[in-house]
Amino acid sequence: MKPDLSVEIAGIQLKNPVMTASGTFGCGREYADLVDLKKLGAIVAKTVTLEPRKGNPPPRICETPSGMLNAIGLQNEGIDRFIEKEMPFLKKVGVPVIVNIAGDAVSDYVELCRRLSSVGDVAAIELNVSCPNVKAGGIAFGMHPGLVSEVVGACRRATGLPLIVKLTPNVGSVVGIARAAVGAGADAVSLINTVIGMSIDHNTFQPRLASGFGGLSGPAIRPIAVRMVWEVARELDVPIIGMGGVGDALDAVEFILAGATAVAVGTANFINPRATIDLIDGLEEFLIARGMDSVRDLVGKVKMDGSSPTC
Ligand SMILES: Cc1cc2nc3c(=O)[nH]c(=O)nc-3n(C[C@H](O)[C@H](O)[C@H](O)COP(=O)(O)O)c2cc1C
Repeated sequence: MKPDLSVEIAGIQLKNPVMTASGTFGCGREYADLVDLKKLGAIVAKTVTLEPRKGNPPPRICETPSGMLNAIGLQNEGIDRFIEKEMPFLKKVGVPVIVNIAGDAVSDYVELCRRLSSVGDVAAIELNVSCPNVKAGGIAFGMHPGLVSEVVGACRRATGLPLIVKLTPNVGSVVGIARAAVGAGADAVSLINTVIGMSIDHNTFQPRLASGFGGLSGPAIRPIAVRMVWEVARELDVPIIGMGGVGDALDAVEFILAGATAVAVGTANFINPRATIDLIDGLEEFLIARGMDSVRDLVGKVKMDGSSPTC
């Protein structure tokens, strides 16, 4: 008998724990010729904002020996176009659709939640809190527990849809931020977003990204992400979507053992557009090889004595 890959997260039933990471899979349509979208556990669309955004000037992507740096700047066509153009396509795919949103002020997030609540077929909203809060002087919402609490609480009051809060690793205590999100009504957390980094061209003496620095992603950040998932899972009773360098089934297993119920594939989509599908097949093989009935039996099963590391 085939093992059971189904999981539930934030009240959403997924046929497997594999989703796309926001911003690396467009709105699904871009991959439709290459990937059987129906096989995915869920599709997480790229960040949408109230108004269209052009994003940052190029170059806004560069490769480093240890991962990819990006500073796209949330280029998107705005919520009106998203609802009009992308949602009808996504609805037809028939897998849960998670819409990732961002704003410069709490009121932006609230308005986006309201608009999405009336669309239908939105399974959940993922709050990308890595944006700088204009009113708070530019500090990213996700770097401050008070701001996370404020934005999540306001969104909670604005929508009945499940809320997933996407956490940044660029903080001292990811657990403190996750606790603020859960306290304010988050149904799940997803982590991690990219790690802030910089690369400088030794010929031109200039940063390789026009905006100076950007977010590092890919296998290099996986150990950071796994550690953060484990820390959150140990401290809080909240479903976790793990991401950061997930490329194959064994990477996914690491995150699940650390405490993630589901995983999202990001940068790996650029290397192998079918990475999500290969991962789902690989996960099934992993469970069969170990005689396991369900992927849920792996969640949080890392063997640890619980002691704190010392340096
Ligand atoms: C090119 C690129 C664009 C991204 N755009 C978004 C975005 O629009 N919204 C968001 O929440 N995260 C965005 N991310 C972050 C990813 O969703 C993910 O959290 C991060 O890249 C770590 O996963 P990975 O190492 O598998 O890529 C982006 C990442 C990349 C590489």
